[in-house]
Amino acid sequence: MTLTPAIPPLQLRLSVAPMMDWTDSHCRVFHRLLAPHARLYTEMVHANAVIHGDRPRLLAMDPIEHPVALQLGGSEPELLAQAAKIGAEWGFDEVNLNCGCPSDRVQAGRFGACLMREPRLVADSVAAMVESCDVPVTVKCRLGVDDDHDWDHFLSFIDTVADAGCRMFVIHARNAWLKGLSPKENREVPPLRYDWAYQLKRERPQLQIVVNGGIASQAEATAHLEHTDGAMLGRAAYHDPYLLHQLDVAWFGGEVRSRAELLRSMRPYIEDQLARGVYLKHITRHLLGLFAGERGGRAFRQVLSEGAHKPGADWSLIEQALALTESFAAEQAGAA
Ligand SMILES: Cc1cc2nc3c(=O)[nH]c(=O)nc-3n(C[C@H](O)[C@H](O)[C@H](O)COP(=O)(O)O)c2cc1C
Repeated sequence: MTLTPAIPPLQLRLSVAPMMDWTDSHCRVFHRLLAPHARLYTEMVHANAVIHGDRPRLLAMDPIEHPVALQLGGSEPELLAQAAKIGAEWGFDEVNLNCGCPSDRVQAGRFGACLMREPRLVADSVAAMVESCDVPVTVKCRLGVDDDHDWDHFLSFIDTVADAGCRMFVIHARNAWLKGLSPKENREVPPLRYDWAYQLKRERPQLQIVVNGGIASQAEATAHLEHTDGAMLGRAAYHDPYLLHQLDVAWFGGEVRSRAELLRSMRPYIEDQLARGVYLKHITRHLLGLFAGERGGRAFRQVLSEGAHKPGADWSLIEQALALTESFAAEQAGAA
């Protein structure tokens, strides 16, 4: 058995989950500026798409994104191995195998969460991926599928895959229900069992365990670090991205920067992208939550959503949205 390289522990503490349609390269650049120490994940890409598809569109990244992991979907060891090799050649720092997605399309393709019932196939896939590339190969999984609530079964899945060379697991700490729930419901309805992720770390301390699912605040994320190697945030990071900055500063040090300052640091990237023909709306859609919960947050969101799709929309729209938040802040300071 070849063991995949370990990930430096500090790079595991904070990560942003892979999210289809959301964590594209523009989004990851934004998250990187907010959280210099976070580990970032791509959207899931099927191994076949990596091999036969439009690689520049699927795999292009900005150098600032590192460390960034490519998440693969699939269940054919040889294809996954080829895709992992290509991913590593394109510069990804990790290749992660999706064993947690419950969508019908994914089930029909026999990958994602249903792989939790096929530990041998996952192990063979991981072994083939580890042989084909020299970056860490990792797995993101659930606790089980449908009504499997069996600790020994879960542990045996992890052990089988770890024996094939995998050292790091992201545990989305709930089951996936393959029948009757939409993917969205599958992120909300099956109950969270963080204690299983904690117990896994206790029983297998040599493995790197990152916990994921429902982490919504700095206090919650910090509490998970007592029991695991890291916390992965998905929806909270996307909808309230400033939380990433707060976590990064709290856990790694550095200066607290304002939302406006962080956003302005994105200007060179945005202008460069516009010059390459990218539409502003494809970038600003990821920025809408930056002022979530702040005065002026709704106006910020509205200016960007309404203006970014108009022909010729450029950086000045973002300045316009920022000016609104600044005037709300000045008004508030005046009233105080
Ligand atoms: C819009 C969206 C797309 C997602 N796409 C993926 C995906 O491509 N691969 C994956 O492993 N998980 C995917 N997930 C699940 C997240 O990675 C994460 O496990 C889940 O949202 C629970 O974490 P959270 O409560 O912090 O959001 C997606 C979640 C959302 C909201």
